[in-house]
Amino acid sequence: MEGSIALLRAQYFEQVDPPNLSLPDGPALVSPAMQTAIYKNMFNENTAWPLPPAPYQARVLKAIIARIEESISDPDEDEILDALLEKWSSLLSAPKPSAVEQAQELTYIKYTAPTLHAAKPIPDSRKHRTVITSESRSLILASGTTGFRTWEAALHLGTFLSTTSHGESLLANKRVLELGAGTGFLSFLTAKYLGAESVLATDRDPALIEQIDACIGKNGLDKSMVRTGIWEWGSPLQVPSFSEGEGAAESEVGFDVALGADLIYDVDLVPLLVSTVKDLFNNYSLKEFIISATVRNGDTFRTFLETCERNRLAVEQIPFTSPPRETQTGFFHSTSIPIRTYRVQAMS
Ligand SMILES: C[S@@+](CC[C@H](N)C(=O)[O-])C[C@H]1O[C@@H](n2cnc3c(N)ncnc32)[C@H](O)[C@@H]1O
Repeated sequence: MEGSIALLRAQYFEQVDPPNLSLPDGPALVSPAMQTAIYKNMFNENTAWPLPPAPYQARVLKAIIARIEESISDPDEDEILDALLEKWSSLLSAPKPSAVEQAQELTYIKYTAPTLHAAKPIPDSRKHRTVITSESRSLILASGTTGFRTWEAALHLGTFLSTTSHGESLLANKRVLELGAGTGFLSFLTAKYLGAESVLATDRDPALIEQIDACIGKNGLDKSMVRTGIWEWGSPLQVPSFSEGEGAAESEVGFDVALGADLIYDVDLVPLLVSTVKDLFNNYSLKEFIISATVRNGDTFRTFLETCERNRLAVEQIPFTSPPRETQTGFFHSTSIPIRTYRVQAMS
């Protein structure tokens, strides 16, 4: 029974917009076993974590109850589970945060990796792969960016890394640096499931780094696997040590792979981003930079490609397209604006 709501549950914990949820059909929802599974896996705070904010839970439960009601053909036989009705009334009577409070509230979001299809049986450790972040999807930071949400380009790159054999071969046993990490989604995925030797998640915004730090333990990781650093491109990179206390010695500072998602959105930032990446190749032994970009503006994107070329960086597009939204099984994201992934390397 729980298997039949796996897709809905994954969407719900990612807080996918209710109209895009895959609700079971009415006759299936009428079954008491189905309603019990929904309550236990989605609404009971003792058995499901992290529960989405109450207004979101209420919207989803309303849609579920409406669908059950539509499908009840014999009111003497079929009914709505008491636990669901009680939850519904407690959600209705909960104090309503204002729109501003809702926009500023940070909530944990659980992302589920897409289902793997393989000829051989897939071990349990690779079946249920989740990443937890702390987000406020509409909060705009002082810097003008909305780093408090995980962007489509990160979910796209996460889909590529977690579902193709290239992901692990790119990152296994590698020292990985993430630039402009935002919520840290890719850093957590890399440290948890892709076999990286070490991961350093960086962003210029201290509030984001604080939230990444708060999620390390929630992902079952510790500071020996994921370090964090406040780093504005163009300024010196202070690399924290994996052990407590001092920063890393000069000789330990190096990376094999850098990751970046949705960093090419402002044409004025492009030269700084590219010169930073060039410096990583020259001075931090970087071998490749994997970057995914939502192509919102063709000119900004062309500037990125031209600036790379002027800096003698070779850019190669990785042929990967996320499945369309209707067939996604995890890391749910819109594909309406094209998202591309590139491998950048230093020209010899
Ligand atoms: C659009 S968000 C993308 C966040 C994350 N990579 C994702 O895709 O979900 C851009 C991120 O880049 C960071 N950023 C922008 N300019 C930066 C700079 N000059 N130095 C370091 N980080 C920067 C922002 O703080 C923000 O977290």
